[in-house]
Amino acid sequence: MSKEIVVSGIRSTGYLHLGNYFGAMRNYVKMQDEYNCYFFVADYHSLTTHPEPEHLRENVYRVVAENIACGLDPDKVALYAQSDIPEIPELYLMLNMLAYKGELEKVPTFKDKVRTQPQNVNAGLLTYPVLMTADILIHKGIKVPVGKDQEQHVEMARNFAQRFNGRYGETFPEPYPFNYSNELVKVPSLDGTGKMSKSENVNATLYLADDDDTIRKKVMKAKTDAGPTEHDSEMPDYIQNIFQLLHLVSKHETVETYRSMYNNCTIRYGDMKKQLAEDMVNFIQPIRERATDLQQDHPQLQRIMKLGAEKARESASKTIAEARKKIGINYY
Ligand code: ADP
Ligand code: TRP
Repeated sequence: MSKEIVVSGIRSTGYLHLGNYFGAMRNYVKMQDEYNCYFFVADYHSLTTHPEPEHLRENVYRVVAENIACGLDPDKVALYAQSDIPEIPELYLMLNMLAYKGELEKVPTFKDKVRTQPQNVNAGLLTYPVLMTADILIHKGIKVPVGKDQEQHVEMARNFAQRFNGRYGETFPEPYPFNYSNELVKVPSLDGTGKMSKSENVNATLYLADDDDTIRKKVMKAKTDAGPTEHDSEMPDYIQNIFQLLHLVSKHETVETYRSMYNNCTIRYGDMKKQLAEDMVNFIQPIRERATDLQQDHPQLQRIMKLGAEKARESASKTIAEARKKIGINYY
């Protein structure tokens, strides 16, 4: 039986962080042995903010290097740049004819951008979920490993797949967001507001490229308070966040020890943060070191991306030929 198809992408908008790792990359690495995987750098998606060409190129190389440093094996998966696959923008154009302005304007991530960057509400931003749909459908992807923030985008991809099938006949399977532990992950930022992210909340986000001292400093600054005064009291959000981070990188016993100290009011947040900082350093250090070495080796990264693009185009060209035929734009 052929393996189920997995597709996911990460935008080349900056340094990768713990949210990217636990929301997406950790799943990629586990999935590479079980599934037929297509993982890519969403460089077209990152053009919505008009990056400097030199920064964009470095960011693309970095995303590839950091993915490999986290354990992705370019011989097992197709690892490529989105812009190396011309079939993606072709499918995007076709899907745009089935996507309505009204529904795109209602997407929460679009509405956020309208609020936060009113001077740059471009058409690419509006049709962002359509391009993401093309990314997935071009390989007939079924499982899409992403963090919680992408759940609605994948739901839209499902709607567009159904719409295409309804109009032109059964072509695309319906994609679903995926995480090994059923629930999609949201890694919180260290200041208790929102999620870790590549470009916002820089001081409250732990990057895979952060050096040991930076990690320690950021963790020690995480928001806490004087501690609980009543046994088994409810945990404020920002304390829950610290426990969530501890849960990601520390031993089960460590988390349980601090949890019971919280419950009987003997917890010292300073100690808990020191423990978290050391466990984070141990987690991030080897990834950072591998990524730094690879990041310099452009010829190697280029070879990997070329190989990935070849694999991805093999699948993409079949899908686009089928879509053209279904639509009726195959003449010869
Ligand atoms: P960012 O939001 O940091 O710019 P991307 O948009 O490129 O990152 O996201 C790449 C992947 O990382 C997506 O699957 C996304 O859901 C996931 N991701 C990003 N931030 C987080 C987070 N804080 N927690 C969990 N997953 C996240
Ligand atoms: N939109 C995703 C994000 O911002 C990145 C992405 C682009 C993606 N195309 C995709 C994720 C296809 C999964 C599948 O995080």
